[in-house]
Amino acid sequence: MAAINVTQGHKDLLREIIESQIDLKGLAQNHFRPQLKVADGQAVGSHVIFKGRDCLQLTGQDYLGLTTDPRVIDAAESTRAYGIGALGSAIITGTLDLHLHLQKSLSGFMGSEDAVIFTTGMLANLGCIPAVIKSPYRAFMRGYGNSKSAIFADDRSHESLRMACDLCKAHGVEIHKYHHCDYNHLDELITSFGRDNNLVITDGTFSMDGDIAPLKEITDVAEHHCQRGLRTVVYEDDAHGIGVLGANGRGVAELLDVEDKLIVMGVLSKAFGTLGGFVIGDKWFTDYLSYCSTHMFSLALPPAETAATIESIRIVAGEPYRAQKILKDADYLRLSLRQNGYEVLGDKTQIVFIVIGDENESARISSALEDEGILCPEIKFPAVSPGRAGLRVTTTYSHTQDDLDDFLNKFYKVTRRPKAAA
Ligand SMILES: Cc1ncc(COP(=O)(O)O)c(C=O)c1O
Repeated sequence: MAAINVTQGHKDLLREIIESQIDLKGLAQNHFRPQLKVADGQAVGSHVIFKGRDCLQLTGQDYLGLTTDPRVIDAAESTRAYGIGALGSAIITGTLDLHLHLQKSLSGFMGSEDAVIFTTGMLANLGCIPAVIKSPYRAFMRGYGNSKSAIFADDRSHESLRMACDLCKAHGVEIHKYHHCDYNHLDELITSFGRDNNLVITDGTFSMDGDIAPLKEITDVAEHHCQRGLRTVVYEDDAHGIGVLGANGRGVAELLDVEDKLIVMGVLSKAFGTLGGFVIGDKWFTDYLSYCSTHMFSLALPPAETAATIESIRIVAGEPYRAQKILKDADYLRLSLRQNGYEVLGDKTQIVFIVIGDENESARISSALEDEGILCPEIKFPAVSPGRAGLRVTTTYSHTQDDLDDFLNKFYKVTRRPKAAA
């Protein structure tokens, strides 16, 4: 083993450690990092300033246009007296009256007894999943904790779910991945590898593919294994569906009528346009989750975001036409693209994934669109499977019909396929 030159500076050594694992230049070249600016005097909507030019953006996750809604901004501004940050972790000194109000609004919207709120969706998953399947509270586990556990996760789960699985694995939980949305494969895996306690993990709405999980069949599989004596519950992360799908905006679980059969997790950073993650449930469950590490050892939501979210929830509940519009717009794009012979993933959601396949060709199309004033970065491995690169287009309440047609026309132009006559 060659000696390390300890006379070099700390920063050089750090760089050497990182570069021994990864090609930093390649990473920077391969990953798009847009630097957006808000147009002078205008809030971000469907158009942004990118590299000094006004561009139409089709990648946003402020699905219902609430990030810039004056009512939401006013609510945030009304919290001046609270200061800019929460005063601590939610279970020490960080719980303000605003947080209790938000919990009430959110559980009212979601039709649950209670909700536990985290500062981000990532933290919600990293905290709740281990808490459900492998209690991290060693101090309270005397006489408990000897049961064996396994997780069965969709192989296209969001990174935050995968990281939660890694944490559980470090505590001895076995992790199995089933083929995307394939409930028969899930069934086979639980039949072979089911343990005393089993957790099935899936996104409700898949953020890249734009499809939805077959939750009815997945919860049926879980019930079937419960009947065989294996405790099996389902955890659904519906970051992209809550606020958009279902008769009352409660997401895929509501749409597929399985709300009382699974654990529902959601985020506040997409349809609600603010910040935060949450899990709903009965009070005993949310009380339990409030002791998980990422809730207990992290600052509570800032007051401005908390008040803004209370207002966002009120708007989402009272203005269902916002969600209806973005779903209709996504159907419009999918129909046109499919009629023109493109492979488009997903249905029923506001996420339209156009499969290009080759990464270089996707990059070329994305860059040609940028030249045309359209911001739509290519999506490639590891966000999608190798060889399935493409463009992920999301419709938002801010997009106009002209925006959609502008995108289609320019997309057809740069991919050199003529648009079929309407
Ligand atoms: C499916 C899913 N879960 C969780 C998260 C994390 O949410 P947050 O951005 O609030 O950390 C995201 C964010 O992209 C997501 O797409």
